[in-house]
Amino acid sequence: MSSIATPAVSCRPSTRSKSYNRRHVSVQAVASFQQTSLPKVEVSTSSYDAPESDLGWRQNFDSRYIRGKLIGAGSFGQVHMAVQKTSGIEVAVKTLPKIRGKLTKERTLEKITRETDMMERLQSCQGVVRLMECYEDENNVHLVTELCPGGDLQKHTEANGPLDERALALVAFEVLKIVKACHELGIIHGDVKPANFCLKDKALNPFSRTSTSYLKAIDFGCSQIMGGRRLTKRTGTPVFMSPEIFARDYADKADVWSIGVMLYWLFCQRFPFFQTAEVVKAARLEEVADAVSNTPISYSFGPWPQMSPEGVDFVKQCLTRTETYRLNVHEALHHPWLAKHVSQEELEDAWRGRGAGEASHAA
Ligand SMILES: Nc1ncnc2c1ncn2[C@@H]1O[C@H](COP(=O)(O)OP(=O)(O)O)[C@@H](O)[C@H]1O
Ligand SMILES: [Mg+2]
Repeated sequence: MSSIATPAVSCRPSTRSKSYNRRHVSVQAVASFQQTSLPKVEVSTSSYDAPESDLGWRQNFDSRYIRGKLIGAGSFGQVHMAVQKTSGIEVAVKTLPKIRGKLTKERTLEKITRETDMMERLQSCQGVVRLMECYEDENNVHLVTELCPGGDLQKHTEANGPLDERALALVAFEVLKIVKACHELGIIHGDVKPANFCLKDKALNPFSRTSTSYLKAIDFGCSQIMGGRRLTKRTGTPVFMSPEIFARDYADKADVWSIGVMLYWLFCQRFPFFQTAEVVKAARLEEVADAVSNTPISYSFGPWPQMSPEGVDFVKQCLTRTETYRLNVHEALHHPWLAKHVSQEELEDAWRGRGAGEASHAA
């Protein structure tokens, strides 16, 4: 039974949302719009039976799903397993509060709808988790997605130890295909890190094969539309952020830097610019910025001396501080390290935009 069989539904704010149509439309308002030939607002009369909502999303999550155990917690929300009552399909549900920290409700809702909008734009990419349904209630939203029972790559590594070189190359390949699909749609992922990629299956060694889409990107909360311009907003997880994000002048290659930090951590369980996780946790943002921009990166301890020269070169090319000299996703997908571990056919598919970029493969 596959949870991805359920088609993705639109989670765009509807015309009857409070925040996105400040004039909460009434039946009379629709009638008068029609009479004065102002733009017609389509509102089905049945919608008036539902309680007033902020986003126009369904409000009956609890009548449709049974919530199960907690499987993850991010900075703002919690993720639970849930079962769809009618079908028995197991899903993941991310519950986010409608008011986040110091942000107003309106600003928080904007962020939430940006996240669902990014996911919707990327639904044709096999490496992106299926967004199945969106619900809201008075205080929270509930985003229902395909469940990835293998959990995220951070937990996997913490439980099973660091990845070996081959597994690392296969993860690099999958992540690059997903990030390439983002960039080709003009989207910067913005938060590439092990906790934001989940394993589709609970296999003991999920990296023993190269079948497509065993890895799914699950979090687009920091993604932005690039629109052909340089970006300035400092966003993401600081220790994964590139020097140019700290300098507030960046574009899509910032994701390649984060891929480099992610691979480095997955291989040796240490960040490139810090000796221990404790130091990272205690560091202030400016200290992280300084380390990311200036601390020399070592490739000579732990497992690094055993890695092939191509593997070390790949990670170094991602972690090149000068953005113009850093690889972009296309160049990274042509790096000889991947050719050693991935079949020519799969590489050619990835170069052409197939693989993670097209939904025609069965998951
Ligand atoms: N579809 C899913 N399947 C399995 N685990 C998930 C899924 N979505 C999220 N998780 C778990 O929940 C954690 C937090 O989810 P995420 O979407 O990254 O939230 P946040 O935006 O708060 O970081 C993830 O790191 C992962 O462990
Ligand atoms: Mg996350």
